[in-house]
Order: sequence, then structure tokens, then C-alpha cells
Amino acid sequence: MFVVKKEFELANVHEGLIIGLLDKPEKFAGNLTKLDAEFNGQLTELVKSGDISAKLKSISKVHSFGNIGSKRVWFVGLGKEKELTFEKLKEAFGKLFKNVTASKLEETAIYLDSFITEELDGLDAAHALSEAFALATYQFEGYKQKSNEPEKRLEQLNVYSELFAEEDVQVSLSVGYAFGKAANSARTLVNTPGNLLTATDMANYAMELGAKYDFEVEILEKAEIEKLGMGAFLAVNQGSVEPPKMIVLKYQGKDEWKDVIGLVGKGITFDTGGYSIKTKAGIVGMKTDMGGAAAVLGAMEIIGETRPEQNVVAVIPSTDNMISGGAFKPDDVITSMSGKTIEVLNTDAEGRLVLADAVTYAKHHGAEYLVDVATLTGGVITALGLHTTGAMTNHESLYEQVLEASMEAGEQMWLLPLFESEKERVRNSKVADLNNSPGSEGHAIVAGAFIGEFAEGTPWVHLDIAGTAVTSKAYDLGPAGATGVMTRTLALFVERFEPIEK
Ligand code: BES
Ligand code: MN
Ligand code: ZN
Repeated sequence: MFVVKKEFELANVHEGLIIGLLDKPEKFAGNLTKLDAEFNGQLTELVKSGDISAKLKSISKVHSFGNIGSKRVWFVGLGKEKELTFEKLKEAFGKLFKNVTASKLEETAIYLDSFITEELDGLDAAHALSEAFALATYQFEGYKQKSNEPEKRLEQLNVYSELFAEEDVQVSLSVGYAFGKAANSARTLVNTPGNLLTATDMANYAMELGAKYDFEVEILEKAEIEKLGMGAFLAVNQGSVEPPKMIVLKYQGKDEWKDVIGLVGKGITFDTGGYSIKTKAGIVGMKTDMGGAAAVLGAMEIIGETRPEQNVVAVIPSTDNMISGGAFKPDDVITSMSGKTIEVLNTDAEGRLVLADAVTYAKHHGAEYLVDVATLTGGVITALGLHTTGAMTNHESLYEQVLEASMEAGEQMWLLPLFESEKERVRNSKVADLNNSPGSEGHAIVAGAFIGEFAEGTPWVHLDIAGTAVTSKAYDLGPAGATGVMTRTLALFVERFEPIEK
């Protein structure tokens, strides 16, 4: 895909040449002087006439009419140097590659050194470029008889850098590409309908991932789940003909199995709501209720590629939430693996039930830090909208690390409070230790508070992605549909993780 080259000659023949253009008074100064000279100063004229723009994310294409070896030049507006961030650069690349893909070229060149600023070096640019390329050109193939795959796709991108070592550029390109591809894997899992992605399918996917990256894989079957007493997880599966799977992947990047990070992802392959059934409008789209599991599997893919010096256990409770004569019902009292009993008030609050046992099980595997990710509540959408993941925590400094990673990944999150008053609401039951749905007031928060009861003293961060896992509109870094949100945040969090002094 990416071919890194050192010697940048304007005479080199390519289908296209991509140039970054910062918005400064002299647009074609420095390493772009030669380019404008080859065009006899006409590029400067095109900037003056507005045909080429340096405005952030503007994409201008000009034919080269034989002035240089490449047939056409794409100018990518980068805006003011001081205002250009890593994220904005990625978005600009995303928009560019959507454009390039639409022109059906199979090969093109990019002059990496034209994307460098005081803040962002060539390696940042290389990462942004390859990640954005993977993300922006993603398409879910779907199941139409006539495939929507383009006949031609960009097969080779020649990346020229005179300022940075070829090997370093290559590494950054590979890492960025791995990030983008893994988020795409998560997107595909989320976009796949429930009949084609059952818990068994998800377990098979995890086994393949484990085989590819040499993870230790453990798939708990129903009998073992019963033996371990995971009554909360089992209750959700009770109405289903599909067997549940508790999926565990272990990655050991340190000599000893210590400082273990537990990543826990909600893997509900379809959520009908159970007997607290969803409305006919509300039920559509509930194939995406395994977005947390997808993010965790995506992060494990990146971890498998980049192999950080960390220990990670990924735990995914997977089942659908269905109705039948055997399904669990409101008023049922169930016993979780932790021993805590739960009064079921709402079978549609199933995510917290499966996560309760998954969090407990992650601790059994030695997790000393926990991050759970889940399409957990409509309430988080009411609170924060569709662009911000809702977070909760029992440990400020662990949250700081997750937040830092999210900022680096360009994925917004915001912390919701976890006060005693809300913990009390979850603990309020006449017949059991906890109830799973104390009412709709602040229900994103009580859902998080419920999971916190199972994290107990272990540092824990909860991420509610109900609003961010899917988008109805295409954007610079992807099409409408699943976003793969938190895949990259989790991977960066793991990579940069510093154990907390106890
Ligand atoms: N999977 C849903 C949450 C959800 C809603 C995800 C919208 C994506 C989009 C979850 O299991 C659920 O049903 N939550 C209920 C909880 C309520 C019953 C306490 C909700 O948010 O309405
Ligand atoms: Mn539900
Ligand atoms: Zn759900």
C-alpha cells in the first residue's frame, strides 16, 4: 500500500501528487518554491484567484498540463500553522482520500514534508495520513447481489520524505494504518446484523484474532458459565436459542502477569429489551448493541500489531436479549458471580447485568485496572448528545489516563458524576442487594453506578458509547453507520498506561 521514497523529484511520473498547503502569506515558499517555479508561478496566481485554497480541509485539484511528471496535483488546505492539530490534519487527510478515491486512481504520490508544522513532524503526518486513509475509505460491503465495491481502488501511495528517515516513516505509516484498520474491523462487527453475528460468531472471530496475534484465548461455554455462577449474564441469555459466550483474550507484554488492565466490552448481539420490550421504532438498530465488544476487539487488534509492554485481559460477555417462555422477567431476583443479588426491574437494562459478571470475571483473571465500554443507555444521548462518550469512574487518575488517550485519538468524552446518592438508588431493593433500574432520572449515571458496584475497590472507568457508536451522517473520517469509537482510545490508553502507585 505505502511505498516510502527519499528522493523527491517533480519530474517523477505519477497519476497524482498530493501537497499540503499552510495558510501563510508566502504559500509556495521553502520546499514548495520549486513546485511553483515549474508552473512558472501560475500556482501563486491560482491561489490569488481562489482556485487553490489553503483554508483548512479545502481540497483543490489542478491539472499539471505537463509542467511536472504527475498528471494532477491535489492541494490540501491546512489552515493556519498554529491552529493545525493532529486531529484536524487527520480530518483533512480523510476528506482528501474520499476525494482521491472518487477519482478512481490506482496510484498516487504525496509529498509528506509539505504537511509538517512546528507542532507536527513528518512521523505525526505519516501516522495521520495512513490512519485517515484507512478510516475515510472504509465501506461496509453489505449483502446486495450487486456489490458496492468500487471497481478501482487506490493500491499504491508513494510517500516522499526528504526530511525523515525512510524506516521511521514506514513504521509510522504502519502504526497509523493498523489503528485505522482496527477501527474498521470494529465498524464491520457493529454493522453486521444480529442473525449473522451471534455470540458464537463473535467467539469465533475472537479465536481467529487470538490465533493471528498469539493471544491466550478462553471461551466459556454455557455449562462453564453456569458452574461459575454468572447468574446475571445467564439471566439475559435465558430467552435465547443462541448459547451465550464469555470471551476472554489475554495479551502478556511483561515478564510477569501484574499491573493487568482489564478491558470489558458489552457484547449484546441484539437487544429486543426482553419482556420490558422496546418499541417498534426503538428496536431497529439494536444489532449495534455489541459496540463495546467491537471496540475491545479492535483495540486488541492494535495491541496485537504494536505489542506494547503491558498486560491486558479482554473480557466480552456475549448473548442476545430475547423473549421466550423461558426468558427472564421483571421481578425476578438473580444472583451474580460476585454473590450480589439483583432484583430485575427492567429486562431492557440488560447491559449492566452482563457487564456485572464480566467485570467480576476480569478481576478473577487478575485485572487490577478496569475499563468497560458499552452501548449502555439512551440516557447518555440525552445528557451528552451524539458526539461525546459518557464516562464515569471511581478513580480520578485512572480516568485522567483514559481521557488523555481519548484526546490523542480525537474521540470526545466527558465525565459524569458518581455520587453516593445515585449509588443508594442502585442499592435500593426490598428483596435483593441491588436493583437494575431505579428509574429514568439520570439513568446513564445509575447504569454506571450499577457496574461500579462490581468494580468495587478496583480502579475503574466506565465508557457509555450509546450515542457515539453509530452515526447517521457520513463524516470526514468515515461513512454513515458504525464509527468504531473507542477502539483507538483503548489502544492508546493501553500503550501509554502507567501503573498507579497504591
Ligand atoms: N442497548 C440499550 C441502550 C441504547 C439505546 C443503545 C439507544 C443505543 C441506542 C440498553 O440496553 C437499554 O435498553 N437501555 C435502556 C435502559 C433503561 C431500560 C433503564 C435505555 O437507555 O433506555
Ligand atoms: Mn437494553
Ligand atoms: Zn442493550
